[in-house]
Amino acid sequence: MEISEEIKEQKKYIEKIKEINQEKDRFYHILTMGCQLNENDSEKLCGMLEKMGYKKTEKQSQADIVLFNTCCVRENAEERLFGKVGELKNLKEEKGIIIAIGGCMMQEKHITDKIKQSYPFVDILFGTHTLHKFPENLYKALKEKKKQEDIIDIEGEIYEGLPIKRDSKFKASVTIMNGCNNFCSYCIVPYVRGRERSRKPKDIINEIKELAKQGYKEITLLGQNVNSYLRVEREKNIPFEEYEEVNSFATLLYAINKIDGIERIRFVSPHPKDFTDDVIQAIAKCDKVCKLVHLPLQAGNSKVLKEMNRKYTKEQYLELVEKMKKTIPNLTLSTDIIVGFPGETDEEFEDTLDVVKKVNYEQVYMFIYSRRVGTPGDKMENQIPEEIKHKRFDKLKSLVESQIAQNNKKYIGTKQKILVEGTSKNNENMLTGRTDSNKVVVFEGEKELIGTMQEVEIISEHMWYLKGETKGTVFKCLTEIVAK
Ligand code: 5AD
Ligand code: SF4
Repeated sequence: MEISEEIKEQKKYIEKIKEINQEKDRFYHILTMGCQLNENDSEKLCGMLEKMGYKKTEKQSQADIVLFNTCCVRENAEERLFGKVGELKNLKEEKGIIIAIGGCMMQEKHITDKIKQSYPFVDILFGTHTLHKFPENLYKALKEKKKQEDIIDIEGEIYEGLPIKRDSKFKASVTIMNGCNNFCSYCIVPYVRGRERSRKPKDIINEIKELAKQGYKEITLLGQNVNSYLRVEREKNIPFEEYEEVNSFATLLYAINKIDGIERIRFVSPHPKDFTDDVIQAIAKCDKVCKLVHLPLQAGNSKVLKEMNRKYTKEQYLELVEKMKKTIPNLTLSTDIIVGFPGETDEEFEDTLDVVKKVNYEQVYMFIYSRRVGTPGDKMENQIPEEIKHKRFDKLKSLVESQIAQNNKKYIGTKQKILVEGTSKNNENMLTGRTDSNKVVVFEGEKELIGTMQEVEIISEHMWYLKGETKGTVFKCLTEIVAK
């Protein structure tokens, strides 16, 4: 079936379930694991469920449907999921709730086998390529009381036009591509998300224009390999429709930068090898593109990087950093690092610490290597003992924390433009937002500032946030100026 026909079909199922739920109070509870792409998928699942007449509840015991959107990038998520599913057995028996599990972990056969065997009361299993068919699977589970398993191995097409319920009114995530062709040897993503597929420029631009109309200020472009947007199409001469001159990641940034109302553009997660000169230039030239760039290092030693199949050496990575620092004024960097990849020696690990010292990251996401079934890394013989991995992790963590503490000091006395996102979790009278460099800033202010851009002077720094002060200067955002 054509994908647009498929979506029409699913909308019919949404209507059918809505009829079943008419005049009844029905609730769903959702747990999302993993990355921002999964969160964005969950926003689509929530959008479909709300159109079917379900309301969201944070209380599992109140729910008629419990839904897990899973991640499999690291090991601990599996135990967590099994624990959570086990907890639902009583609720299933007492209330006959529907239990659905979807997402990346469902693309792994050893996991679905285990669920079917140990938790046979689960109603729906769906994978990463069949999320859009959730209404049909739910309808069949409700009506026919039959278990649904809808998992396919081949990558599905990109579907457009699903309902979506976004978590924020000011910040929106927009998935621009799916899948990964890189096969880093530790990573399960290429196996569960399939090959790279990019959305059409027109669909992306129109979605962001619509978001701008609705008052969204910050857009985060998402993709497993976000800066290789349209790369496969260009390399293999696969025809695609250009729209507003968009034919690459760089040209997409320029086009979004022109959209009135949008104030900030972020993107995750890129690969260093796709930071081509045109992309670096675009980041420098587009005033709305945040100057915090995520540049996943993974490891600092060239031999380990080769084993990881990362396609760059330590020197090439550092050259790229230098080039970006020279070209992009006020650049700050964040990164991902894995410690304890198979065969990594203490000396090789020192190279990771060396790169961290040289680059001076604003933020480092640190991971302990986790064996993933089906990846080349899992088959490597020289696995590192857990206690050594933990020692390295602690060493890296203390270096990173000392750098962050040092870096935070440079903010004091500076004026930062922030998007005010809400009230502080710890103090209702304080507002919170983020700088261009993604630092959390807490400051006193009226609630009406929520959703606006503000200039805040930083007065003190704490490990994970900065404290600021406004001088009452309201930053008129572009939309307000245009409205007048
Ligand atoms: N073990 C540990 N960390 C991993 N990551 C991906 N796969 C693994 C693994 N097997 C980390 C990488 C990636 C981030 C999203 O998760 O650093 O950039
Ligand atoms: Fe995984 Fe590497 Fe692809 Fe990122 S680029 S999703 S780390 S395989």
